[in-house]
Amino acid sequence: METLTYKRGEPIICPSLLSADFTNLERDIKKVEEKTKILHLDIMDGHFVPNISFGPLVVSAVNKITNMILDVHLMVENPGDWVAPFHQAGADILVIHLETTPHAQRVLADIRQRGMRAGIALTPQTPVSMLDYLYDDLDLILLMTVNPGFGGQQYIPAMTEKIRVLRERIDDTEKPILLQVDGGIDETTAPIVAGAGADLLVAGSAVFGHDDPADQIERLLGAARLGTGQKA
Ligand code: DX5
Ligand code: ZN
Repeated sequence: METLTYKRGEPIICPSLLSADFTNLERDIKKVEEKTKILHLDIMDGHFVPNISFGPLVVSAVNKITNMILDVHLMVENPGDWVAPFHQAGADILVIHLETTPHAQRVLADIRQRGMRAGIALTPQTPVSMLDYLYDDLDLILLMTVNPGFGGQQYIPAMTEKIRVLRERIDDTEKPILLQVDGGIDETTAPIVAGAGADLLVAGSAVFGHDDPADQIERLLGAARLGTGQKA
């Protein structure tokens, strides 16, 4: 299995399987696994978000064919009920939405206790201050830069300031918490979000919506590096 090491200022592109060809998942995963180490998997329940995607069965199948780090983004109600099934399926990072539970700390602690990395996601409308008492229990924060539910949506410009604010707060904690962004990331928005302080950039349609997903990862990485002031 890949290990997750991260150096500040060196963004990682996380391809989202949601935009892959579901009749050829293995082929599409093989196309990206040489270029990056994190695979993003979107789980939607048709309640929290107005769409249904896939569940632990597919995550488990993916786990059998790749060594990539499986980053599972739960967009489901009652996330606490799904910690054990997705752990069994092979999730390495398990991300829950703050909006789906009044007991986030309990669920995050459960995720970590099982040996996974714990993440929390915020929809665009949820203020960063909602995380104020959760930093001790977090390995990753996912800021949604579109309203969750679908691939291929447009980046919401107001999220750039939100990324900056969260970056400062994370830095103030001096904890190694990763800042991930998800939704509408392409060659135009990648430098903006990376420049604002995002570490991990999820990209679905910008990777799998093109003929050469591996080349797209290189392009997105180059764009993100420009945003952080590095050479592409
Ligand atoms: C949306 C999902 C995203 C989605 C992103 O609810 O959380 O991960 O796959 O797709 P793009 O990159 O196409 O906006
Ligand atoms: Zn996602």
